[in-house]
Amino acid sequence: MRTTARFRCEECGFEAGRWLGFCPQCRNGSGLTEVSAAVATSPAGRPATLSSNGTLIRMPTGIEDFDGVLGGGLVPGSLVLVAGEPGVGKSTLLLQAGAGVAGTGRPVLIASAEESVAQIGLRARRLGVADAGIRVVCEADADAVIATAAEADAEVLVVDSIQTMVVAEVGAAPGSVSQVRAAAARLAAFAKHTGTTVVLIGHVTKDGAIAGPKTLEHMVDVVVYLEGDLDRGLRFVRATKNRFGAIDHVGVFTMEERGLLPVEDPSEALVGEWQASVPGTVLFPTLDGRRALLVEVQALVVPSIHGSPRRSAKGIPIARLHQLLAVLDRHAGGDFGRFDVYVSVVGGFQVVEPAIDLPMAVALASSRADRPAGSLGAWGEVGLTGELRSAHGSERRETEARRLGLDRVIAPGGGMRRLEHALTVAGVARERRGAR
Ligand code: TYD
Ligand code: MG
Repeated sequence: MRTTARFRCEECGFEAGRWLGFCPQCRNGSGLTEVSAAVATSPAGRPATLSSNGTLIRMPTGIEDFDGVLGGGLVPGSLVLVAGEPGVGKSTLLLQAGAGVAGTGRPVLIASAEESVAQIGLRARRLGVADAGIRVVCEADADAVIATAAEADAEVLVVDSIQTMVVAEVGAAPGSVSQVRAAAARLAAFAKHTGTTVVLIGHVTKDGAIAGPKTLEHMVDVVVYLEGDLDRGLRFVRATKNRFGAIDHVGVFTMEERGLLPVEDPSEALVGEWQASVPGTVLFPTLDGRRALLVEVQALVVPSIHGSPRRSAKGIPIARLHQLLAVLDRHAGGDFGRFDVYVSVVGGFQVVEPAIDLPMAVALASSRADRPAGSLGAWGEVGLTGELRSAHGSERRETEARRLGLDRVIAPGGGMRRLEHALTVAGVARERRGAR
């Protein structure tokens, strides 16, 4: 092994081969810090032969929807990141999941630097898992945590949270990119060498801004996000990366007095308060790997009093809103330039599929025209020329919309090929100036 000097930005993790007085990536002016990087010059070990009969062992957590997101359960020796806003329920989920694994006779250790044993004990009693046999250690030093996990023969180690872990030799503050990375690297090596499954809990801020979990994503095997409106009960669990399975399974839970409970009928729970008779709302049957989920898409369009009008999107990427507004302006006489625009998916659900375009357009046009779209479901991508692009799973989407009692659905296909036409059929099109 030989080492070379590397320099890293404490703020964003940018690395360079020489020292710089500022970070070219995030413009942090305090300069890069020296870190040493090992370069392997000796053989990496015996090369393995691939075979087709290698089946992956899974450790189910007993939480069906969480296991589904993981691809069947935790994989021994893997590193899993569970990320989410503070207070969303990460510690709760992992205590429940840990109890499930411990219940199958596998030793589970929770290492927490955020809470005392008494606090964790209180939560465990509340969740009814105090007797599941989970062991707990309150420790912030990553090497001490690893030593404890090794001594306890833990098959699953939960680290709560990775932002509070420190590696003694790294001089940086807890939570800094250097510390988070160094601690994660130690824990990753421990997972690979011993076959222990290590679950890292990571906090992200509402806009996902914090550098910690983002810089970790490429280091771990599985990235799971826990999302939801903190002031409402629903929680969504989804993987954005999974080396051992698909990433299209969304788990839906409610946060109750006794922890996270599976939701029998997520569509019903998501659209329970929907009012078809008011302008600015429409339902969207979105798909995960197994099923269609009905979500409510809302829009509010109001005259802007600002120099540059406001655009706000919750549960939808803001770039999709910007693009759709431009298409509406150009092809449906939207004239949104003078209006503040807010769109939101109710319940804290994050929509990632492009089929959100049409329902978003209907909700926007409905609010703009002050006309309700009524008992309507819509889906479909909108292209830059105002054309509607078909989305997969139309049958499943329609079945779900009908099951929840919607009168009408609008989707690309058949005669429905243009955005303007769809808005007219929905009854929310704006009469063009001078046209009528
Ligand atoms: P927590 O798991 O501590 O969140 P995180 O680890 O992501 O910061 O839980 C957050 C909130 O959930 C907490 O404010 C209280 C609430 N909660 C319940 O409603 N029911 C429960 O059974 C538990 C344990 C927590
Ligand atoms: Mg916590």
